[in-house]
Amino acid sequence: MNPFRPPADAWSRRDFMRNSMGSFALLCTIGAPATLKGKKVVTSAARRAQAGSPFAPFQVDLPIMPELSPVRSEHGVDVYDVDIREGIAEILPGFQTPIYGYEGIYPGPTIRARKGRAAIVRQSNRLTFDSNVHLHGGYVPAAHDGHPMDVIKPGARFDYSYPNDQDAAFLWYHDHAHGRTARTLYYGLLGAYILHDEREERLDLPRDEYDVPLILADHAFNRDGSFRYAENVDLGFRGDTILVNGAVTPRMRVERRLYRLRFLNASNARSYDLRLGQGREVMQIASDGGLLERPVARTSVPLHPAERIELLVDFRQFRPGSEIVLQNALGEPSTKSVIRFDVVRGGGSEEARVPRGRMRTLERLPAPNESRRWDLTLDTGTAVQWQIAGRGFDPTRIDVRPRLGTTELWQWHNPSNRLHPMHLHGMLFRVVERSTGVVHPGDRGWKDTIGVQPGETVTVQPWFVPYTGKYVFHCHALEHGDKAMMLQLEVVA
Ligand code: C2O
Ligand code: CU
Repeated sequence: MNPFRPPADAWSRRDFMRNSMGSFALLCTIGAPATLKGKKVVTSAARRAQAGSPFAPFQVDLPIMPELSPVRSEHGVDVYDVDIREGIAEILPGFQTPIYGYEGIYPGPTIRARKGRAAIVRQSNRLTFDSNVHLHGGYVPAAHDGHPMDVIKPGARFDYSYPNDQDAAFLWYHDHAHGRTARTLYYGLLGAYILHDEREERLDLPRDEYDVPLILADHAFNRDGSFRYAENVDLGFRGDTILVNGAVTPRMRVERRLYRLRFLNASNARSYDLRLGQGREVMQIASDGGLLERPVARTSVPLHPAERIELLVDFRQFRPGSEIVLQNALGEPSTKSVIRFDVVRGGGSEEARVPRGRMRTLERLPAPNESRRWDLTLDTGTAVQWQIAGRGFDPTRIDVRPRLGTTELWQWHNPSNRLHPMHLHGMLFRVVERSTGVVHPGDRGWKDTIGVQPGETVTVQPWFVPYTGKYVFHCHALEHGDKAMMLQLEVVA
């Protein structure tokens, strides 16, 4: 079984020609959202019922994103080259879907990094509009963070420098040019960035093909196989089809052994509540910012937009031939199944194990300097827009100026009737309190995104390290962040 997809350049020129009309339409979509109102389309929902439908679940094997190899490595730095460009993805069997992609593929290639070894990712913008790259969850100097106003012009290049001076974690990179991330991420500009370190390696966790990134996103399709997008600033986009690593509700062959499954919710606005089979126990070992102190047993795993959760799943509990579906308890009928694990014979010589006891000790935080409350509200005035503390994003204004090295208590207060996954750039936080009950042990590690439910107040404690400079914090329901649920902070010395 070779789960690797062909490299981008394996697609023929003919493929691009054949789809050029589709790509052109895609550009119009970005340039002028009004063109979305066009001729009537037959969507994925309508095709789903037909015999031999490309939407039938469990028909394709889970694809694994190719890994990007450095173009060179010198003085302890790995240098990567990436083109941000149009491409074609084969998502629905027999159809070609125009996308925007890093290296022209969706999801983008995985970047693997090691703590203590810096990386430079040279991003060339081959699109016809501004783009940029945010390393979500990374400790990154402000100039390299992918601030929404720092963009790469068409035809230009920016060399992002990533120190990789933080603990092992499942990060991701994605476009962040202001005002259209709901479209650019939807059309494919995202990829996994997996950071390893020694502490994690000492734990004998599953590795290599037993350590699997799973990127979840909901989509909808037009009759010609192109992605269908319709903007809804209030609700956010909801697709009727779940993609995992760019495949419709795939299947994955698993041996009877322990697997490390790294989940990323790359959906625009959809939350998941993952359940294995009828609610089997899985062990959560990590959240956004890396390992938890101890493994946490769960039977239900909530995953809000932009969050990552890493699970150890022991397939030894199933007989060969078993087919175990990972369900989304929050899904509609067509989005309830996420992936099916088909258990095969083998996996006899098992070395990996669930760590017993402590995996790490979380750093003790300095006592908070300030306490701030951020109300999350919808302004239905002239244009519908989302606000934080009564304000929409204004890049010329600094909304808060914390001191480097300090902590504060931030209360996300949500009187609205939508969930808001609140995200802070360039730094990590800990979840201190929830008005709706206890903080789940799976949320007690380092986080960079937290889902705030309607009516809820969630208090987090950001630690303003390691860099000074301008960063943003925003709602990661992408339609909310674009319009304009985002504020700016400047960490000062
Ligand atoms: Cu994942 Cu400001 O973003
Ligand atoms: Cu929101």
